[in-house]
Amino acid sequence: MMVEGSRMWMVTCTAPVNIAVIKYWGKRNEELILPINSSLSVTLHQDQLKSTTTVAASQDFKEDRIWLNGKEENINHPRLQTCLREIRRLARKRRTSGDRNSNTLSLHHKVHICSVNNFPTAAGLASSAAGYACLVYALAKLHGLEGELSEIARQGSGSACRSMYGGFVQWMMGLKEDGSDSIAQQIEPESHWPELRVLILVVSAEQKPIGSTAGMQTSVKTSPLLKYRSEIVPKRMKEMIDAIKQQDFETFGQLTMKDSNQFHATCLDTFPPIIYLNDISKHVINLVHSYNSHFGETRVAYTFDAGPNAVIYVQEQHVDEFVEVVKHYFPPEENGEQFLKGLPVNTVSVSEHLKSSIQMDSIKSGIQYIISTRIGPGPQSIQDATLHQLGEDGFPKL
Ligand code: DP6
Repeated sequence: MMVEGSRMWMVTCTAPVNIAVIKYWGKRNEELILPINSSLSVTLHQDQLKSTTTVAASQDFKEDRIWLNGKEENINHPRLQTCLREIRRLARKRRTSGDRNSNTLSLHHKVHICSVNNFPTAAGLASSAAGYACLVYALAKLHGLEGELSEIARQGSGSACRSMYGGFVQWMMGLKEDGSDSIAQQIEPESHWPELRVLILVVSAEQKPIGSTAGMQTSVKTSPLLKYRSEIVPKRMKEMIDAIKQQDFETFGQLTMKDSNQFHATCLDTFPPIIYLNDISKHVINLVHSYNSHFGETRVAYTFDAGPNAVIYVQEQHVDEFVEVVKHYFPPEENGEQFLKGLPVNTVSVSEHLKSSIQMDSIKSGIQYIISTRIGPGPQSIQDATLHQLGEDGFPKL
């Protein structure tokens, strides 16, 4: 939109976080961010977790600038530069008419970018996926670009390409050297499996773990197990897609857990080893398996990314009970912050029978809080001008 009375264009968009159920780990091309295997994720709802980005363009701006969560960052970051360059390249290519009067947004205009997350960085969620997806989507809107954009988002952060769509999304690894076929594709929209719920168990951690970009580089260099993964993933992708299409939670959950475990086994097989799971993560894994085996079916499934937090997939009818079980075994700090955030959960009682078959000592404050959410849509553009992160002068409002 054109800001009234000024020569400035401004667009605000939001984009979601995604959590992989078949993991991406390892690149065959670092520059273009081309992966060694395909991956598949679930897009989380933006009511609970999202990035919001405002981009503005004006003749009056002297240089491209970016502010992240209130702080100015270096615009010369290579991945940021790639996204800006690629969007401008695409805009040039798709520009049809030669209309160049001064009321038209020019590709020579500099941009100001301001991005915020509505979730704490401390939650350890990969904010780069939502962040880059949001940036690319907002820049595209600014230039009036439609269509396939995941190829550009991928060059910001690999997993960001999957945040360009809602629902269930696969990132096809592609075969071409230029990366033009390494793109994301929606398998099913969020409406396909509305009962699917997601619980993020934020684990108390002392240390900031090694980042995924550096971690996967070392794995590619040193882990023999990672080579084996590229033989396994194609079959897993097919099985996972079928399970999703049939809403088969048993298969979906089992594959999710197996793939998370294989990813972390690969990390341990890296030299020197990368250890993302901590004792609390391992207790969550045991709790999930004891809970499922008590009922003789897969009711909940865990997955872990490059950190100790557990992401739990569960169908609606089992959410209340499982949250109660988590509370029982990881009793929250009294007077601590609110334990349950996001979608409401009902209080229920846990049977003695279930408790006796779980057989685990409780660990006080092992889990800081739970974010309860569900599957959601892809990036959105925001019409409400009060939500712009940049003011009419083109600088952050705060
Ligand atoms: C463990 O996408 O953050 O979350 O491409 O280097 O930016 P870069 O890495 P990134 O890696 C995500 C790794 C993961 C698994 C996944 O999301 O598939």
